[in-house]
Amino acid sequence: LMRTKIPEGLQKLPGPKPLPIIGNVLEVGNNPHLSLTAMSKCYGPVFQIQMGMRPVVVLSGNDVIRQALIKQGEEFAGRPDLYSSKFISDGKSLAFSTDQVGVWRARRKLALSALRTFSTVQGESSEYSCALEEHISKEGLYLIERLHNVMKADGCFDPFRHIVVSVANVICGICFGRRYNHDDDELVSLVNLSDEFGKIVGSGNPADFIPFLRILPSTTMKKFLDINDRFSKLVKKIVSEHYNTFDKDNIRDITDSLINHCEDRKLDENSNVQVSDEKIVGIVNDLFGAGFDTISTALSWGVVYLVAYPEIQERLQRELKEKIGTDRTPLLSDRTDLPLLEAFILEIFRHSSFLPFTIPHCTSKDTSLNGYFIPKDTCVFVNQWQVNHDPELWKDPSSFNPDRFLTADGTDLNKMEGEKVLVFGLGKRRCIGESIGRAEVFLFLAILLQRLKFSGMPGEMLDMTPEYGLTMKHKRCMLHVTPQPGFEIPGS
Ligand code: HEM
Repeated sequence: LMRTKIPEGLQKLPGPKPLPIIGNVLEVGNNPHLSLTAMSKCYGPVFQIQMGMRPVVVLSGNDVIRQALIKQGEEFAGRPDLYSSKFISDGKSLAFSTDQVGVWRARRKLALSALRTFSTVQGESSEYSCALEEHISKEGLYLIERLHNVMKADGCFDPFRHIVVSVANVICGICFGRRYNHDDDELVSLVNLSDEFGKIVGSGNPADFIPFLRILPSTTMKKFLDINDRFSKLVKKIVSEHYNTFDKDNIRDITDSLINHCEDRKLDENSNVQVSDEKIVGIVNDLFGAGFDTISTALSWGVVYLVAYPEIQERLQRELKEKIGTDRTPLLSDRTDLPLLEAFILEIFRHSSFLPFTIPHCTSKDTSLNGYFIPKDTCVFVNQWQVNHDPELWKDPSSFNPDRFLTADGTDLNKMEGEKVLVFGLGKRRCIGESIGRAEVFLFLAILLQRLKFSGMPGEMLDMTPEYGLTMKHKRCMLHVTPQPGFEIPGS
């Protein structure tokens, strides 16, 4: 291997000594968010590990991460060529693939504008401010009915299993103009497998870096390939139905608008970046995938925190009763009137840090950070978990305390504190679904909390230890709900 010469004035990156062939894989272990946070205390906010033979730079600390992703954004905006990425959306994912910068930028712009258009467009009923609000409200009420029926039949329910279908239906509505029944096997079985997906694509999966591990039989890897295959098939089927019924004068959803873009572009000979039709329409794969897994994980954590902290649940219900009452369903415009709920959501994001690392980044040219030299094409892990648990930034970071996000008199949200939480990434690769994500977590929780009280099963301890992955999930558990006073359960 050629060693890259370090330019004068810059230093070699610090870091633990690697073993031959496997590098630091053993020290990184099964919980990279914890092991790499511990290493940052020893080596500082910019250090290097070796995953197999491949060097990886790990970034921690608010200042360093902002410097890299915002001030030097262009240099840190690439994606590394990882083994697992080749299987996501047939290797053509917007979020994971190594698309050259012009292609990625054009696709990202299209995705952003499609999301904005189809979430803010007027829905079917004038009761709601926009289609997004309408989808969430309707799915929230179906979910309550569903939980009530499951409770009647089984006496308990697995929160993730049902939440994930409701959340998937919201993004299905926006992307594909359709929803699925909670009994639909094709969708329910697929979306309930998202934890297997996250285990493979989480930062620090050894098989991404060490080729010989790929030939060993692995059930997780087999499941990962199977999920990607089933996912692609489902989306392809829906896309081909859209092509068959496409009408330029009636653009129904994001899929139609992307098909329409392909048609328009064929008329525009001046377009300077060539993006294939497949890569344009394939954007729905990313929107659908990212749009259900992240939000359902956040909401499922939310429900588990409500059960673990019943006194906070009571305070949230009191806030809803005082500010909204029982005569109407909460709306997105109620956000400013529910500071405790907003603070609770920020604390779920911070404390669980369920997206512990961003998707891995990659340097697009030779660069430097904090005086250290980082060559082109270096894989970069961004440790969001570390920022959210940094004692320099947070008082008592390991305790779950939504009040840290309220002003001293407890009546308003402290926006400056809220901005310190890092879960959507930053800069050029920052999440494009952030406003949809925040809106959805807020409205689903407000609707659920207004009508239901969540509790654990008598005698059973909740295990809040996260299972590591791209999105970290809590262990599957069984919970209990009872209706809040004054509420009829719809459909009962
Ligand atoms: C990327 C978080 C919801 C679409 C990301 C990244 C994070 C993230 C951390 C990676 C940033 C980086 O690599 O630096 C979240 C969280 C969500 C959420 C916490 C919800 C609570 C959504 C939704 C959508 C979405 C609802 C779409 C409907 C995307 C896409 C990317 C992305 C397409 C890739 C962007 C790129 O590579 O340029 N998200 N996300 N996300 N997110 Fe989200």
